[in-house]
Amino acid sequence: MAEVTLEKIVSLSKRRGFVFQSSEIYGGLNGAYDYGPLGVQLKNNIRDLWWKEMTQIHEDIVGLDASILMHPRVWEASGHVANFSDPMVDCKNCKSRFRTDQIDLASACPVCGNKDSFTEPRNFNLMFSTHIGAASDAGSLIYLRPETAQGIYTEFKNIVSSSRVKIPFGIAQVGKAFRNEITTRHFIFRSVEFEQMEMQWFCAPGTDDEWFEYWKTQRFAFYEKMGIRKSHLRWHQHGKDELAFYAKDAYDIQYLFPMGWQELEGVHNRTDYDLSQHQEFSGKDQTYLDPATNERYIPYVVETSAGLTRNVLMALSDAYEEETLEDGETRTVLRFHPNVAPVTVAVLPLVKKDGIAEAAKELELSLREEFTTFFDVSGAIGRRYRRMDEIGTPYCITVDYRSLEDKTVTLRYRDSMEQVRIGTDEIVSAIKEANKNYKRVEK
Ligand code: GAP
Repeated sequence: MAEVTLEKIVSLSKRRGFVFQSSEIYGGLNGAYDYGPLGVQLKNNIRDLWWKEMTQIHEDIVGLDASILMHPRVWEASGHVANFSDPMVDCKNCKSRFRTDQIDLASACPVCGNKDSFTEPRNFNLMFSTHIGAASDAGSLIYLRPETAQGIYTEFKNIVSSSRVKIPFGIAQVGKAFRNEITTRHFIFRSVEFEQMEMQWFCAPGTDDEWFEYWKTQRFAFYEKMGIRKSHLRWHQHGKDELAFYAKDAYDIQYLFPMGWQELEGVHNRTDYDLSQHQEFSGKDQTYLDPATNERYIPYVVETSAGLTRNVLMALSDAYEEETLEDGETRTVLRFHPNVAPVTVAVLPLVKKDGIAEAAKELELSLREEFTTFFDVSGAIGRRYRRMDEIGTPYCITVDYRSLEDKTVTLRYRDSMEQVRIGTDEIVSAIKEANKNYKRVEK
């Protein structure tokens, strides 16, 4: 099987409208991306699966949509103002900037080749800052949030008092985060503007280890449910040098991206650090009175923190395949799980004439309540199948002359390319059944 490279994913993403470089007509903006018609649908589908998993399938998790801009003291309390930085060096000759952990300081500059041209390492804060209000002085300085989690902590008390939740419970949030990443390699893997799906699970001190194990199991199972190949997922435990000073334990779920194993999601035992910090910096009580024990304490937090946009890259990488067919032809196919595929069903009239296109259009309209659909009349039927394979559409329906007579159509399955003849009144149930039973065949 042909190798899956990042170049192939980038090229397909642009060609088929998944992801574009931001502001491309002006030469592009490094590390910023636009999600095109198929990309935004794929991203929304992943987000919706996660949201359903958290707030519908799991009990005791409520949602939140906090603002991106927050009081600047939040980021002092969280430790981001003091610590959220990477040590960097600049090349004095070409002015390129590098993370010290990503280059050999003893060697020449990788951009201009000059020797001994690096400055001393300096800490470079990753938060983007801006100003609020008319004045742009120190008093108006605010930040674009570098993670969504802090909005959850600052709303902890409001949610406890307004939502009848009792510990243990979780708060889930999906939203944009911003980091002034100096090295924005690997397409959407590491970008300056991205989306996170975070859930903070508040629990009683002493129960945190058990919940940590529970959430590890749940989060790994989620990716299997999403149809991601198990052989491409693994755990990585943070060593002493990686672990945040307040964290009791931390594991990453890693995915085998085209450029190697990389972090996809973190599961962290953050202890009572964040709420304690906010209590200290805001002067507002963040304790919880446990009605079961009558004890008052600052809850411990187990965090599950996944990158939504990084999940999009994983979904594309995992689905991408160049398959050699029996006739020697190669087809590019995205083997998305039907739950995340941007288009579920394509309806294709075999020919345009004799009322076939009209009948096919009518059928496509009738399926829109149930599925995301696509209608394509142009080109040979084989070419149209290939186009649908390339964007990962799991089902194609072909309407032909016989359809006009007996109300049957051909249903084609993307993965096996098997075709079956079924009545139009059976389509919805056949597709729902196939979705329910979908299993990726690993080749
Ligand atoms: N609240 C904890 C937190 O933000 P993190 O490990 O810094 O932890 C969590 O980020 C997840 O967010 C990562 O596993 C990754 O999927 C995603 N992420 C982080 N930085 C990113 C970036 N620059 N571009 C895209 N995704 C990013």
